[in-house]
Amino acid sequence: MNSAAQDSAQASGQAPAQDRIIIFDTTLRDGEQSPGATLNVEEKLTIARQLARLGVDVIEAGFPFASPGDFEAVSKIAQQVGSPGGPTICGLARATRPDIEAAAKALSAAAKPRIHTFLATSDIHLEYKLKKTRAEVLAIAPEMVAYAKSFVNDVEFSPEDAGRSDPEFLYQVLEAAIAAGATTVNIPDTVGYTTPAEFGGLIKGIKENVPNIDQAVISVHGHNDLGLAVANFLEAVKNGARQLECTINGIGERAGNAALEELVMALHVRRQYYNPFLGRAPESEASLTNIDTRQLYKTSRLVSNLTGMLVQPNKAIVGANAFAHESGIHQDGVLKHKLTYEIMDAQSIGLNDNQIVLGKLSGRNAFRSRLKELGFEPGDQELNRAFLRFKEMADKKKEITDWDLEAIINDETQQAPELFKLEHVQVSCGDHSRPTATVTIRTPSGAELTDAAIGTGPVDAVYRAINRVVNVPNELIEYSVQSVTVGIDALGEVTIRLKHEDRIFSGHAANTDIIVASALAYMNALNRLSDSLQSGKVLHPQHDEVQPVG
Ligand code: KIV
Ligand code: ZN
Repeated sequence: MNSAAQDSAQASGQAPAQDRIIIFDTTLRDGEQSPGATLNVEEKLTIARQLARLGVDVIEAGFPFASPGDFEAVSKIAQQVGSPGGPTICGLARATRPDIEAAAKALSAAAKPRIHTFLATSDIHLEYKLKKTRAEVLAIAPEMVAYAKSFVNDVEFSPEDAGRSDPEFLYQVLEAAIAAGATTVNIPDTVGYTTPAEFGGLIKGIKENVPNIDQAVISVHGHNDLGLAVANFLEAVKNGARQLECTINGIGERAGNAALEELVMALHVRRQYYNPFLGRAPESEASLTNIDTRQLYKTSRLVSNLTGMLVQPNKAIVGANAFAHESGIHQDGVLKHKLTYEIMDAQSIGLNDNQIVLGKLSGRNAFRSRLKELGFEPGDQELNRAFLRFKEMADKKKEITDWDLEAIINDETQQAPELFKLEHVQVSCGDHSRPTATVTIRTPSGAELTDAAIGTGPVDAVYRAINRVVNVPNELIEYSVQSVTVGIDALGEVTIRLKHEDRIFSGHAANTDIIVASALAYMNALNRLSDSLQSGKVLHPQHDEVQPVG
């Protein structure tokens, strides 16, 4: 069955053919649940558009009941990204009527909407979180699946903490959920506890012991607490799982979720090993997923920039060192024959797609059309601001590459909410002077305030001066500078994370002047902090109190 037929089978509530892997991306839901990764609506839309270009089958766009902001983000993604040829758009709902109603409403504009409802099945969750008996859970799960089914055909059910649940009880709950209309049953290793052999065995057990399992797709979801999430998923594939729930760069709660890029490239590079498990001829070259792997690097950068979650240099597939053959011995080996030390080509993840494209004389049309080719279609205001930034940059930097353009446009996407605006920053520093910074900031009331401070270094001085104006208590917990491209005139990208009470906020900015980038990144994080103080609490789907059913 081709992927369009597979999509339509699933949207109409039938179980699809099982000869390829469905990629379910939960960067915008589980990924965004990781501390400090909070995204605004525009940022979520930008990521959702890129996920669609990447070719994911399902985008879990959020938890609509959480807050008006989450509801709006899911609705907009459903409207603008959930077109008939696009991905399925999914909304998370606890197994309660209000959650399911909010998800159904938020998803109403999607051509292929999916409601994903969940209820824990492990004894530890039943006793301490849900305070319910097994009999109650066995009744609620199918009741809520059926309720979700009254709104959409495509319903996914997850028994939360399946990895630590009693398998016999799990089989009963899954059978009841499928009988009530679940088209996908997702098996979460919520706390990242299982090992590959155990997780594979769990999927095998489900296939063998749930009588109606052929009416649903088996999906897996897992956290990386022991660093085993990707290995667990690959073992699950061998045992019958056909949907993988993952996030870009593996972001997510605690140690994160299974990383999409690692799963996709493992299935791609080792497809001849996995083919037989999907009923294909071992030598088949056909892709096991719908992912356009050349979009992986770009998607990784976008998610890292917008969430402020940095990618470690040695991260598989998308880390800065993943394709850098720096050791002398390796370099020699690679030069003699690429395959000596390379199992995949940098081009296959789009790493070499960084062309020098524009310069000082390039006009607005050239700028707009290159952005379009890169997949960005900013509105007029955003485009104007980005074009001004581009011109400023072109004065300082001879050649502007695709990555520079992406850094500018990501920065512009990130501007909202701009409650406090940096108008001016100036520093004086050197080996015989005390670092001093002066800043001018426009406050939400429109007043322009100037203040100055001395610090241990120029960035510290700038942050102290900004704090004197903004006056919101916070602790800087992470600061990093990276260069976008090589060369002395490269753009510097600054990413910071700060803590206010028990919450973390991130900020990101790029500029050829790293002091300016540092100041803007800090303002960005402070604006997110101030905005969240104004907009109130966002519910956490797994940790906050469960509403009564009914
Ligand atoms: O980790 C988990 O169990 C989840 C569920 C909501 C699927 O994220
Ligand atoms: Zn999760």
